[in-house]
Amino acid sequence: MEHSLDRYVALEVVRVTEAAAMAASRWIGKGESDAADAAAVDAMRAEMQRMPVHGRIVIGEGERDEAPMLYIGEMVGDPSGTAVDIAVDPLECTTICAHGAAGSLSVMAMAGEGKFLHAPDVYMEKIAVGPFYPQGTISLDRTLTENLTLVAQHKGCAVAELGISILDRPRHQALIKEARSLGVRVILIPDGDVAAVIHTTQADSGIDLYIGTGGAPEGVLAAAALRCLGGTIQGRLVFSTEEQKRRAKQMGIEDLNRMYATEDLAAGDVIFSATGVTDGRLVQGVKRTSTHITTHSILMRSKSGTVRTITSDYRIK
Ligand code: FBP
Repeated sequence: MEHSLDRYVALEVVRVTEAAAMAASRWIGKGESDAADAAAVDAMRAEMQRMPVHGRIVIGEGERDEAPMLYIGEMVGDPSGTAVDIAVDPLECTTICAHGAAGSLSVMAMAGEGKFLHAPDVYMEKIAVGPFYPQGTISLDRTLTENLTLVAQHKGCAVAELGISILDRPRHQALIKEARSLGVRVILIPDGDVAAVIHTTQADSGIDLYIGTGGAPEGVLAAAALRCLGGTIQGRLVFSTEEQKRRAKQMGIEDLNRMYATEDLAAGDVIFSATGVTDGRLVQGVKRTSTHITTHSILMRSKSGTVRTITSDYRIK
């Protein structure tokens, strides 16, 4: 992305996540996750058409035959604008939104053409830490105990003083048991590993390391956030069927066992925006009064490292 355009476009990106969050917020607590997601997708796509760039959706709602809007490969924005890659999760944590619980977000990241991994919609093993550690501190090829020992060494504390976050899933029982046997604080999250990775960059979050298997698209979005905030993520795709492997190859993934570093997932100059739908640790959710709708967002750029927290009041017409 050109420098001037990249600064100017950042505000357009936050407008997109704000629009999606406001639309999804109408479905908070209604028990209808598909409707909440559809509302976010619709609003996000409509707002994107006003962007002064020509974006290709590389992380979106799914492949063309499965998703009518924001499908992988869909072009959005102004065809005469600069070509960019776009990664979105219009409603990250659909179930949380439907249950009216904490932590649902609208998320979008933008980078130059070809800068995001075209990740298939499969799982990804992930491990991430904030910007406080030298290269090589974490690796998916080590055990959790080995990783935590190195993190503790660099942090200058005992392993038992560390905190990790992990999705509360049966597939993580062994990791949870291993961490607890070391006396580590284990924060079990019901959903939402994009925010969980971001929390590792916040020195006062109590979360030193994120680990576990979650969505591969969310891995790309988390990497985009870390490119702006500092920090490291590693990811490896997890395939459960031959069909998934075939589709991944079709999407250009040659080495199915490849270990992806942060810059393999999100390279170049990156813009990242997340707007809260329900209240969360990262940002507050959408609020309504009789006259205004208020949104809370975090907007960041990798080039400058600027992190903006933006509160917007929309007048109800
Ligand atoms: P959705 O918004 O698609 O529900 O994703 C929420 C999420 O928790 C992600 O943050 C995470 O990467 C993924 O689901 C984990 O998948 P699963 O729920 O299948 O374990």
